[in-house]
Amino acid sequence: MSFDKKDLISINDLTRSDIYRFIETAKEFKKISLKDIKKVPTLRGKTVVNLFYEPSTRTKASFEIAQKRLSADSLNVSISQSSVVKGESLKDTILNLESMKPDAFVIRHQESGASYFVSKITKASTINAGDGINEHPTQCLSDIMTIMEEKKDIASLKVAIIGDIYHSRVARSDIYGLSKLGAEIYLYGPYSLLPRSLDTQNVRIAGNMEEAVKNADVIIMLRIQRERASYYFIPSIEEYRNFFRLTRGLLSLASKNVIVLHPGPVNRDVEIAGSIIDENRTRILKQVENGVAVRMACLYILLGVQKN
Ligand code: CP
Repeated sequence: MSFDKKDLISINDLTRSDIYRFIETAKEFKKISLKDIKKVPTLRGKTVVNLFYEPSTRTKASFEIAQKRLSADSLNVSISQSSVVKGESLKDTILNLESMKPDAFVIRHQESGASYFVSKITKASTINAGDGINEHPTQCLSDIMTIMEEKKDIASLKVAIIGDIYHSRVARSDIYGLSKLGAEIYLYGPYSLLPRSLDTQNVRIAGNMEEAVKNADVIIMLRIQRERASYYFIPSIEEYRNFFRLTRGLLSLASKNVIVLHPGPVNRDVEIAGSIIDENRTRILKQVENGVAVRMACLYILLGVQKN
């Protein structure tokens, strides 16, 4: 089965079978991370430019590790030390780097649509590592892989996504990806941070926390995004904590095999009670571990090593 797309900008660019193919490929690559020698020559001779206009720990580190494990040459452009600070535009930055013949750009940017824009002005593959409040497709694939490791049939699952949905590119990608695979999705959060409209099947807004988590198989908690002014949308952080934090009592309403995900970074005791974060129903570090495998799969598939 071939994959003929140059870029990964939105999870909606992928069909159901594409998603399963990315996950199956990631499962194979995960085995490399468990070996003594964590390196294969698969992308030897390929050059990947990492451009992170916004801070990142998990996504940036996992893309870099993925590139190293596949033997690609990585260039990490430090935006604060680059000519971006002299006012160079995104377009000129990409066109100049393009002249050096990279095979792929991995881009995180504060503006929604930035990675789509980049994909249109470069011949290199472009991978969206998070654009504004729009999408974070590789986080969605990590989340799907993490869920599929324990829950075999996504179509039979109730998934609750709770928190700052409006500003969350993870929520948007997870909603698209999980609903494409047939999950029943319940959203809940402060009214001001819920989506204005729902254009996706199998998605509904819960009336309260109890309805959102009742019998849920998967609970995805989201970060309050200070950098995107979430705080202006809620009366106070104490109020948020009181009404929207996942507590042990709420967790007891969920399915007995519920798993709890969070894309990170977590504001401990704001979105999730601290004691739940460190207990065995939480899969936050598993999401990070799978993030490396998923990003290896994305690079491998998009860079055309496995055409046809
Ligand atoms: N989940 C996520 O995107 O985390 P980082 O911002 O640390 O990359």
